[in-house]
Amino acid sequence: MKQQFLFLFFLCFHPHKCQSQTLGADPYETPKDYQEVYRGSKNDVKEIPKIAKSFISEMIFVQTSITAIRKGAFRYMPNLTKILFIGNNIKTVESGAFDGLEKLRDLEISGASLEELAVGTFQNLPNLQRLELRDSHIRCIPKGLFEGLKNLGELSLHINVIPSLPEGIFDSLANLTFLDLARNRITFLPGDVFSKLPQLQRGLLELSLQRNRLRVLPPTLLRNLTYLEKLLLDNNLIRVLPPQSFFGLNRLKLNSLATLPDGIFVNLTSLGKLILSHNQLAALPRGVFTGLNKLLDLQLDTNQLSALDDEVFAPLPNLKTLNLRMNHGNPWRCDCNLCYLHSWIQGNSEKVKLSSQVSCKTPPHLAGQAVISLRENQLICPATLPPSVSFIPSLLLTSTSSQGMPSLLPPEDVPTAAQTTLSSVAFPIMALPTMPLPSKAGDGALH
Ligand SMILES: *[C@@H]1O[C@H](CO)[C@@H](O)[C@H](O)[C@H]1NC(C)=O
Ligand SMILES: *[C@@H]1O[C@H](CO)[C@@H](O)[C@H](O)[C@H]1NC(C)=O
Ligand SMILES: *[C@@H]1O[C@H](CO)[C@@H](O)[C@H](O)[C@H]1NC(C)=O
Ligand SMILES: *[C@@H]1O[C@H](CO)[C@@H](O)[C@H](O)[C@H]1NC(C)=O
Repeated sequence: MKQQFLFLFFLCFHPHKCQSQTLGADPYETPKDYQEVYRGSKNDVKEIPKIAKSFISEMIFVQTSITAIRKGAFRYMPNLTKILFIGNNIKTVESGAFDGLEKLRDLEISGASLEELAVGTFQNLPNLQRLELRDSHIRCIPKGLFEGLKNLGELSLHINVIPSLPEGIFDSLANLTFLDLARNRITFLPGDVFSKLPQLQRGLLELSLQRNRLRVLPPTLLRNLTYLEKLLLDNNLIRVLPPQSFFGLNRLKLNSLATLPDGIFVNLTSLGKLILSHNQLAALPRGVFTGLNKLLDLQLDTNQLSALDDEVFAPLPNLKTLNLRMNHGNPWRCDCNLCYLHSWIQGNSEKVKLSSQVSCKTPPHLAGQAVISLRENQLICPATLPPSVSFIPSLLLTSTSSQGMPSLLPPEDVPTAAQTTLSSVAFPIMALPTMPLPSKAGDGALH
């Protein structure tokens, strides 16, 4: 079963290759004459062979008994261009393991038990174009691990247990176009971790960060990724306000705490697809999608959105698909703050996936009703909200949201009687998230 999964994945790595080969088939069943395939079930090996015939350019190890790749293991095989270790129980890869492989273009170690990799593991591989280190229990990426891989185009580190990345880890990868960090345990990314990726010709085209534990996206994180076409951020813990924002209202500064900062995507003018599903996004600042001129597909399902800013989708002239509800929706609060979304869905129902299932969570008398089916005069805000003057000014000053006040309560009409206590949280800011308990975030959404 595992083996089949591995091959499925391998075949699909380059989507265009999938068409000519049958899914699930073992591509090395009948090796080509330039391939040497070792297989645990057939011609098992415990060590990497010392030599290969001169015409062999690809060496593939599938579920063999090899547990270590020693320094210089391939030193007498300088003609190899491709080496794959698939599903071997490899625990050790020594520094210099791939020395002498000047022609190597493609290296994969997947389904191993690597845990740690030493600096120097991938030294002297000037022509490496693809490096895949998938599903190998890697828990630490040392600074300098990818130094010198100046021709690397694709780097896959998905399905490991990496908690963080060192500063500058990708800085020397001048040719990187594809970076997969999905399904790790990354909680934090340095703001400039992608910014030095040189922009000689194209720059990064695809970035996968889904299924990590990211809570915050630094405002500068995506700044230099002008060529990015695909960004996957789903299944993280991104939320608008960190939990401590509820400890005291004087710390409530929406602009500095917003974890999807206004304009974070501003330079992603090539992006076609943006997946933000399965996060804890409770609000989106008005300008969050500014710059995404080419965006076709936006996925926002399974978040905590209850309202949306006016004009939030205005910077998306080419949007073809908006997904607000797939597995789970968002807890929409059908009041005056939903007018923008309501009219947007009515005007663009062909773009909204399952548009008739985008439904209200609150208020109680509208719960379960499809937003699209409501009349505009049903979207009302109770005029009786008694906001406390003591914190309204700070909210108005710092909110990036246009919903600082509901439309029924223009600022000059704010009642001055400050009877409301904080615990009743009756301030009319519908972009404020209903915060899950801080402890819940720690064990949620881990895959
Ligand atoms: C490498 O390839 C060349 C040309 O095909 C061949 O002459 C040479 O013997 C090969 N070297 C080894 C060590 O196999
Ligand atoms: C890597 O980048 C250099 C400089 O831009 C370029 O000459 C080279 O062809 C690229 N290599 C690959 C494999 O794309
Ligand atoms: C973005 O790239 C440019 C040129 O490659 C560089 O000068 C600049 O420092 C980078 N921006 C950031 C925020 O690092
Ligand atoms: C967009 O990129 C340019 C050039 O790299 C940079 O100078 C600018 O600060 C970026 N804009 C934002 C808002 O990050």
